[in-house]
Amino acid sequence: MEIIKGDFIIIGSGLAGLSLALKLKNLGEVIVLTKKRVFDNATSLAQGGIACVLEEDNHFDLHRRDTEIAGDGLCDPEIVDLVIKKGPERIKDLLEWGVNFDRDPENPKRFHLTLEGGHSRKRVLHVGDYTGRAIENALIQRAVESPTISLLENHLAFELILEKGCSSDTCRVAGVYVIDLIKSQIKLFLAPVVAICTGGAGKAYLYTSNPDTATGDGIALAYEAGCRIANMEFIQFHPTCLYHPKAKNFLISEALRGEGGVLLNAEGKPFMHKYDPVRLELAPRDIVTRAIDMELKQSGAECVYLDITSLPSDYVKRRFPHIYETCLKYGIDITSQPIPVVPAAHYLCGGILTNCWGQTDIPNLFAVGECACTGLHGANRLASNSLLEAVVFSHQAYLRIKEDLALYKEWSIRLPTLKEPIIMDIKEEKVFISHNWDIIRKIMWDLVGIVRTTKMLEFALKRISLIRREIEENWNSVYLDLDVMELKFLSLVAELIVKSALQRRESRGTHYLLDYPKKDYNYQRYTILQKNF
Ligand code: SIN
Repeated sequence: MEIIKGDFIIIGSGLAGLSLALKLKNLGEVIVLTKKRVFDNATSLAQGGIACVLEEDNHFDLHRRDTEIAGDGLCDPEIVDLVIKKGPERIKDLLEWGVNFDRDPENPKRFHLTLEGGHSRKRVLHVGDYTGRAIENALIQRAVESPTISLLENHLAFELILEKGCSSDTCRVAGVYVIDLIKSQIKLFLAPVVAICTGGAGKAYLYTSNPDTATGDGIALAYEAGCRIANMEFIQFHPTCLYHPKAKNFLISEALRGEGGVLLNAEGKPFMHKYDPVRLELAPRDIVTRAIDMELKQSGAECVYLDITSLPSDYVKRRFPHIYETCLKYGIDITSQPIPVVPAAHYLCGGILTNCWGQTDIPNLFAVGECACTGLHGANRLASNSLLEAVVFSHQAYLRIKEDLALYKEWSIRLPTLKEPIIMDIKEEKVFISHNWDIIRKIMWDLVGIVRTTKMLEFALKRISLIRREIEENWNSVYLDLDVMELKFLSLVAELIVKSALQRRESRGTHYLLDYPKKDYNYQRYTILQKNF
C-alpha cells in the first residue's frame, strides 16, 4: 500500500478546507483530499452571501441578537460573539485572496449589502447571486499557486487511523485511509494534524439543495473514531428550491425575498401574514418553511410561488443573473412570472462537536464548516452565517494548530497494525446499493422531515437500522466504489439524525415534533451521540 506523509491532511475542498489550507501553507506540507473535483461542494453552490457587520449603523449586538433569535434559544452565546466579532478580519482575508464582493453602485467605496430572512439589517456581502462560486474560484486559484499545497481530487477518505490502543480519553489520530478512485487503489496518508471539512449531509433526503457530495462522510468518520456528534436533529430546510421536473437541487436564494419577493399559494394569494404577521417573507427559515409545508398540505398543491415581478426587470437581471438564466433555461422568465418553489433539505446545524478552536474530542483532529457543531447555529442557522462560520473557524483552527504544532509533531504515535483492506467486485450487486440509497432518502423525507412525530421517528429508526445491518452483513469490507462507501456514510448519518431527533422531546427551531409542540424550558443545548467501543 502506498504511504504518503505530510504535515497537515485536510479532507474537503470547500471554503472551510481551502481557507484552512491557505492559512497552514507556511507551516508545512498541506494535503487536501477531495472525493470528486475540487469545486464539487456546497460552497460552490452558495448563492446568497456572507453575513458580516461592516457598517457603523449595523452593530455587532444586532447581528448577535438576530443569530440567537433564529437559533431559537440554543446558540452558544460565547461562540456567537466570537464569530460575529471576528467576521470583519476574516472578510479581509477573503478580499486578500481575491474575492471581489459587489460594491454599492451609488457609493463604490462601500460594499453592496443585502437582506435575508431573520436579519434586522442589511449585512450580507455577496458577488451577484453566485457568491460561493466566486469565493471557491478565488481560493482554488490561490491554493493551486502554492507550492506547499497538494490538491488531490478523486481521493475518498474512508477511515481515520487512530493510535494503537486508543481509548476515548487519550486518543490521537495518525492519518487516514483513502481510496484513489481513478487508480482504484487504497492509499495511506499520515500527518500530525488531520482536519475534517467535508460539509453536510443533505443527500440523506430525497429533495435537497445540496451537491451530490453531501453524504455526511466526515461526520461518519469522526463518529466511528469515537468523537461526540451533536444536534443532528436540526436539519434546516430551505423554503425555496426551484420546482421543475428537470431542475436538480437548484436554489432560489433567500436574497430574492430580501429584495422584495413575495410568496404566493396555488391560488396566487400571499400567505405569510398568517404565520408571521410582522416579519412576513423575512421570518427565519424554519418559520417560512413550515408555513409553506402547511399551505401545501392544506391545498394539496405541489408547489407555492415566489413572485419578484414587481421589481424592475433590468434590476432583477443584474442582481440575480444566475437565477434568471437558470430559470429561463427551464422556461420560466422570473421578471414576468412567479417562480414555482418547494422546500428542500439545505443545511445541517449539528455535526462533530468542536470547541472554540475547531478541535474535536481527539486533540489533533479538527472539524470546520458544516460538518462541525460549534454552537453558533443553535436550532436553526441564520441565513448567510455558514460561510462566515467556516472562514472564522478555519482561522481559529489555524491558531490552535500553530500554537501546538511542535507538540503534535513530538507525539510519536504508535500505529495500529495496518489493514490491507479486502477489495470486492460488486458489479452484480449495484442494484442493492441504489435501492438502499433511494429507500433511505425517501424514509428521511417522509418521516424525518419538516414536521415529525415520535411514531414516525421510531418507524424510521427501525427501517434505517435494518438497512444498516444489511449493509454491515453484506458490504463490510472495503469497496473501491464511491456509491457503496457513500451509502455506508449516509446510512450511519441518517441513523444519527433519527436518534438525535428521538432524544429531543420538544419543538424548537428546525425540529418540529407534533406530539411535543412546545419548547421545553429545561432544554439541553446539545443532544449527543457517541460510539461505545
Ligand atoms: C440563500 O441564498 O438563500 C442561501 C443562503 C444560506 O443558506 O445561508
